[in-house]
Amino acid sequence: TERSLVLVKPDGFARGLTGEVLARIERKGYRLAALAILTPTREQLAAHYAEHEGKPFYEPLVAFMSSGPVTAIVIEGERCIEGFRSLAGATDPTKAAPGSIRGDFGRDWGKPVQENIVHGSDAPESAAREIGIWFPSLG
Ligand code: GTP
Ligand code: MG
Repeated sequence: TERSLVLVKPDGFARGLTGEVLARIERKGYRLAALAILTPTREQLAAHYAEHEGKPFYEPLVAFMSSGPVTAIVIEGERCIEGFRSLAGATDPTKAAPGSIRGDFGRDWGKPVQENIVHGSDAPESAAREIGIWFPSLG
């Protein structure tokens, strides 16, 4: 079955939304396969966000993501990649639909990067790559 890599980003962790995110994943019917709390290193973030290197929001994004603890989660279930992206909502939390994680809990704080509570893999290849970055032992 499919796996996806989810991160509760530093804003979500600091606001105490980790349990809320886990509850929504479980209520949707996906299984938790791995879970860890850690403060990301620059190396992990450079690997994770390689596709965004050179974009105007890249440096603020890496600074934000290394600013405190995150919860890294591997979830499991048929079409969970697409399913979690749907639970998360649109990237811009101001526009994300109410009912989604970003729509219910996110907003614009006037920061140079969109603080949007969660990350979810966007394709099977990215999920495999990202799981390798955050959980080297899982491969
Ligand atoms: P992730 O699940 O975090 O990967 O979000 P996403 O897939 O919805 O967005 P994407 O991968 O395109 O961008 C990664 C992160 O960079 C986003 O979650 C935002 O935090 C930030 N970001 C993306 N696009 C923009 C943008 O246009 N402006 C700003 N300020 N931040 C952005
Ligand atoms: Mg993305």
